[in-house]
Amino acid sequence: MKVLAIETSCDDTGVALLDVRESQVKILADFVSSQNEIHAPYGGVVPNLAVRAHYKNLPILLEAVLGKIDPEKIDLIAATNGPGLEPCLWAGINNAKVLAKALGKPIVGVNHLEGHIAANFFAANSKLLNYGAITRSGATGWKTQNSKLLFPAICLIVSGGHTQLVFMKKIGEYKVIGQTRDDAAGEAFDKVAKMLGLGYPGGPEVALLAKKGVSDAFQLPRPMIDSKDFDFSFSGLKTAVRYLLQKLEKSPSALPASSAGQALCKRGGREREIQVPNSQFPVPDICASFQQAAIDVLVDKTIKAAQKYKAKAVMLAGGVAANKELHRQMENAVKKTIPNSQFLVPSSCYCTDNAVMIGLAGYWKFMRQGKGDRVEKIEAQANLNF
Ligand code: KG4
Ligand code: ZN
Repeated sequence: MKVLAIETSCDDTGVALLDVRESQVKILADFVSSQNEIHAPYGGVVPNLAVRAHYKNLPILLEAVLGKIDPEKIDLIAATNGPGLEPCLWAGINNAKVLAKALGKPIVGVNHLEGHIAANFFAANSKLLNYGAITRSGATGWKTQNSKLLFPAICLIVSGGHTQLVFMKKIGEYKVIGQTRDDAAGEAFDKVAKMLGLGYPGGPEVALLAKKGVSDAFQLPRPMIDSKDFDFSFSGLKTAVRYLLQKLEKSPSALPASSAGQALCKRGGREREIQVPNSQFPVPDICASFQQAAIDVLVDKTIKAAQKYKAKAVMLAGGVAANKELHRQMENAVKKTIPNSQFLVPSSCYCTDNAVMIGLAGYWKFMRQGKGDRVEKIEAQANLNF
């Protein structure tokens, strides 16, 4: 089934074309137009600039994708309809509706969060993990192949807007068992980066600099690590970094030896060198200490949830899942504490927002429903949840 997918929930315009078969997905086209340069001067996403860029980028990306296929051969159109910034969501939805009507094709509105989960079911080499395929099972409807291998599963979704632990009985059946009570993890990375005068988005900057720092240089809190539920809180951690900077400003003698130098890292497949900023603060040590505090809470709660719900797989999803240190420490914790469970994480370019994940989640929804959504029923839902 050929799926044309559109993602515009925040500040990345994504358009993709997928050929989804029973046990594999072939990525025929995958374009993401990043708006980082537009929002960087403001240190965060400016909604009206984001919408304007989506409306400008979408026709260009759609034309490029439609040049790769006879539009008649498209079987389904999928567009993110929430959660996200409402005017941005409408940009994608409106373009998708026009296309669906003009081509006479079915259309589905896709939950962005299910999209992030779906990114665990294809690899950068375009092969769908075969246990993720949905096949028809007689009269009983759709079921997942080899679901015994993976389900039930626990997925930690960590992005700029969300931090959620999701219990997955199977593909399509999700229950949020815990979530952040204030800031999302990615938001905390971005805000700490801003306090340190780093670039936007802050998560990748903090992660690169943390490689050059010492993770126990400063003692920072691990909010809610001992709470009995699976909720999170990151605003206290962010505030603790603010207080730390104020303290260091007043008494520079409290500074540990600074770890100056350069980190050489890979990002987006290219070698990227990050210069340690010339700052009054030991930025790498602060980044490493903050990152470790966030990772400790995320790993601890995810493992406890996996144990309680007897998860056969632990998955990571969302932009923060691109953090290699989180990936490494979560994988080690799964191996050590629940060795019979599998660990999955998307390739880092599919952790952050993209349209391929929306195409696969759209395919799942279409298969579950056995049909598309009614066009007039598809609306932007800024606070859509599971
Ligand atoms: O999933 P995503 O692309 O957009 C939302 O749905 O929010 O996630 C973006 C978030 C940003 O907060 C960004 O700073 C964070 O993911 N992020 C990272 C890394 N790469 C992206 N955070 C920590 N480490 C990274 N390597
Ligand atoms: Zn996202």
